[in-house]
Amino acid sequence: MKKTNGKGLILFSEGVFKVENVALNHKKILKELQKLKFRDIKAVDGLETNKVKNSPQITESVRILDHMESGDIIDKEITKHIQVSINNFFGYDVGCKIINTWGTKSPPGSVNNFHTHSNYWLSAVYYPHGLIKDKFRIMFESGKHDAFAPKVSQYNNINMNSVLFETLEGDLLIFPAHLRHMIAPNLTSKNRYSIAFNILPEGNIGEGDSHLVYQFTK
Ligand SMILES: [Fe+2]
Repeated sequence: MKKTNGKGLILFSEGVFKVENVALNHKKILKELQKLKFRDIKAVDGLETNKVKNSPQITESVRILDHMESGDIIDKEITKHIQVSINNFFGYDVGCKIINTWGTKSPPGSVNNFHTHSNYWLSAVYYPHGLIKDKFRIMFESGKHDAFAPKVSQYNNINMNSVLFETLEGDLLIFPAHLRHMIAPNLTSKNRYSIAFNILPEGNIGEGDSHLVYQFTK
């Protein structure tokens, strides 16, 4: 191999903040979640995506915390971790507010497509159940191989195209809402449930002609 005095410089990174064992009553929350009404996910073109029952469903409400007995406790606990991630991991001095919260139900064998959560800043997913043997997983994708996908000789942060996270009961993942992700196929014989959150910054954001104040009354 030819030698060079060139040196690689890292420019940008993406990150997911993971919390294990959030202080919630997972079994109680799972029961509350299972009682909510779910609907098929419609594609943007309005076509049915669930004809063979192989796609996840989401709750009819995207404000499920208002309809759950544990809603306020969930909001408080998850917001606490999101705030820590913003201050200590993502590195911003700003508040946050959970706006939309919905449940997902993935029947055995179901898969969904890569997607982002438009119009929000951060997103989070909490898992009220999941054992090691269940292999409940979520996949993130960078899009690095959208145009060219040559054989990778050595995986690193520059060429990494996708990451698969195995999730367990009590896990919470917090990530930028623009990060592409999907629920990996449910390999078990039972329904897989999770709760997703869309988050906005709260308070003073930016400076000068980009200054904005987001205040939420509820
Ligand atoms: Fe999602």
